[in-house]
Amino acid sequence: MATRRTLIAGNWKMHGLRRDLVWAARFRAQLAGPACEIVVCPPATLIGALADTLSGSDVALGGQDCAANAEEGPHTGDISARMLADLGCRYVIVGHSERRETHYESDALVRAKAEAAISAGLVPIICVGERLEEREAGKAEAVVLTQLAASLPRVPAGEIVIAYEPVWAIGTGLNAGPDEAQAMHAAIRAALGADTGERTRILYGGSVKPANAADLLACPDVDGALVGGASLDPEAFALIVNLAS
Ligand code: PGA
Repeated sequence: MATRRTLIAGNWKMHGLRRDLVWAARFRAQLAGPACEIVVCPPATLIGALADTLSGSDVALGGQDCAANAEEGPHTGDISARMLADLGCRYVIVGHSERRETHYESDALVRAKAEAAISAGLVPIICVGERLEEREAGKAEAVVLTQLAASLPRVPAGEIVIAYEPVWAIGTGLNAGPDEAQAMHAAIRAALGADTGERTRILYGGSVKPANAADLLACPDVDGALVGGASLDPEAFALIVNLAS
């Protein structure tokens, strides 16, 4: 059986100014011993500076989004996966529900972004998740597996990470219970097929906090967490990392 190294990812969303770079020293001061794998995804404006403040640590960096175009060109405002790699990123989140909803990103666009990430040598963290009304209608698994199938990169090579983030749990303080998370993660793993499923890490996201992280991370198919709000607080994020390590 493949061992999947636990991954804790922090998604700062549209938060953070240069004065907040002190986060890095405060976070590092709280780490207790050898950690699981850690990635921080600040806004693009802070990636370069955060890379400097985190240099010499094992904390990886990620982008929150990338362009679907792998090549440079006339795409005003877009940031390519290659540019993120150039800043030292190892990961990039694609298909977050906030982008699917407020930027109308389709599964096809998310797939193109995941493929662009892989071609730049990045690991895409591909987000999927159902809305509350879909869960209440008993359609959560069907919705998530449909999104997954249409968002996965077609290129066979390259590592990917999946993040299951129920939309109703994001930023609401309502997290999926461990049983709900485990059931969906197992369904996602099965849908990935035997080989890919065995080696692919599936993160849970949606109101992960120090108080609920241990129960969620104890689920056999939960390989880590994608943490939004709690990742802005270096002490809270370090607590989650320490619990996962
Ligand atoms: P949250 O966000 O932890 O603030 O719910 C998670 C996410 O959107 O990735």
